[in-house]
Amino acid sequence: MSHQGCDIGLIGLGTMGRNFVLNMADHGFSVGVYNRTTEKTKEFMETEAGSRPIKAGYDLQEFVGLLKPPRNLIILVAAGDPVDALIRELLPWLAPGDLIIDGGNSHFTDTNRRFKFLAGKNLNFMGMGISGGQAGARYGPSLMPGGSREVYDRVAPILEAAAAQVKGEPCVTYLGPRSAGHYIKMVHNGIEYGLMELIAETYDLLKRGLGLTPAELALIYDRWNREDLNSFLLEITAKIFTRKDDRTGKFLVDMILDKAKQKGTGRWTSWDAMDLQVGTPTLDAAVVMRDMSGYKEERRSAARFLTGPTPAFPGDRQRCIGQVKNALYAGMIATYAQGMALLQKASITYDYGLDLEAVARIWRGGCIIRAALLEDIRTAYKTRPDLPNLLMDPHLGQEFMSRQADLREVVKAAATLGLPAPGLMVTLSYFDAYRSTVLSANLIQAQRDFFGAHTYERLDAPGAFHTEWEE
Ligand code: 6PG
Repeated sequence: MSHQGCDIGLIGLGTMGRNFVLNMADHGFSVGVYNRTTEKTKEFMETEAGSRPIKAGYDLQEFVGLLKPPRNLIILVAAGDPVDALIRELLPWLAPGDLIIDGGNSHFTDTNRRFKFLAGKNLNFMGMGISGGQAGARYGPSLMPGGSREVYDRVAPILEAAAAQVKGEPCVTYLGPRSAGHYIKMVHNGIEYGLMELIAETYDLLKRGLGLTPAELALIYDRWNREDLNSFLLEITAKIFTRKDDRTGKFLVDMILDKAKQKGTGRWTSWDAMDLQVGTPTLDAAVVMRDMSGYKEERRSAARFLTGPTPAFPGDRQRCIGQVKNALYAGMIATYAQGMALLQKASITYDYGLDLEAVARIWRGGCIIRAALLEDIRTAYKTRPDLPNLLMDPHLGQEFMSRQADLREVVKAAATLGLPAPGLMVTLSYFDAYRSTVLSANLIQAQRDFFGAHTYERLDAPGAFHTEWEE
């Protein structure tokens, strides 16, 4: 290790933090580490650090002293108050020009606030989304940094070496000012929720509708993952279906409670999409379904009272499986389309100046939403950076349209069988609404004018009009 101090520091030796330290150290960078619980630091140094260029500090002063000035340090602690508390504790030990990188899932408005606060103290701050879970952190995550470009350039060699690499390109790049990185990570998670919900809906249709077993499902999802649906989430889904439970010997997926937890980033995405008035119905449906899954007891009693059709599919099963696959692919396209449309609007509203081709590029590897489809998405923005919606890309629009008949059949089947598939259903309506010259909002305008004299616009003349609806 250089006697001048470590290239970078990291605070927070949870699984992600430990793995990211090992990753950076394996790429030849010296890393200083600190964790609030001293025992954890000691354990990491004794059991994992090995002969790598890693040094530990056992209080913040000692930790900061390990770093080469101007210091670069990553904090990986729980989002919210812990980040503010840690920044406050660090302040006495930092010097002008030092850089704090928040690698957690912080809300973008907190990142803006911290950026401004620290700029006032001549300190640099970067909000950096990190995706890829524990394996990503260890062997190559997708990194989504925002802040100032000069400061990014300072840590770029470390981040570019540690990030996942796809076809010789690192899954990290400078994304934009202030909270741009955390905003993109938030939308990444909104897309993640949407894709997970769509996959879960297809699972439900195949399991409850067609009566397929986990072993059969494993083969189907594995095959899909080798074809156009190739993606990390499909890959792990196929693996999940093969896993047996140690306690019962049954398939583990059948033993897991159907109640999905959430840390909130998907909900944040839907909130902000509503604020920016960008429709993201597939993402929203995913949040709603996670919420509804939480009402297990209420659902249990409702099931005794509210009856519906028996979910047994009567038709051609092989054909149905093929239709479900196509419906899922169409849903995936629409999910990315909604997330990217939100980024497009956020870029203007928050003055981020985003390059969506770069976003698609760094999502191709390392992150949870990596998928073969992102190559097409990247190409779409390369061809037309201001594309208003991915469905308007000639190739992706065609890919969706060629599957729309199957999506319609699957939505019909779900409705007939009484199986909830709100993600697939709203995806279809999103497509139908987006491609409609005429929507029913003229009636809504008339209603608003009727009860509130809110006025309406006309098709045949400019201006605002009001009608006394009741004589
Ligand atoms: C990632 C994940 C990661 C985390 C999610 C889980 O990109 O690596 O998105 O950030 O696993 O925050 O989110 P929920 O708890 O909300 O499902």
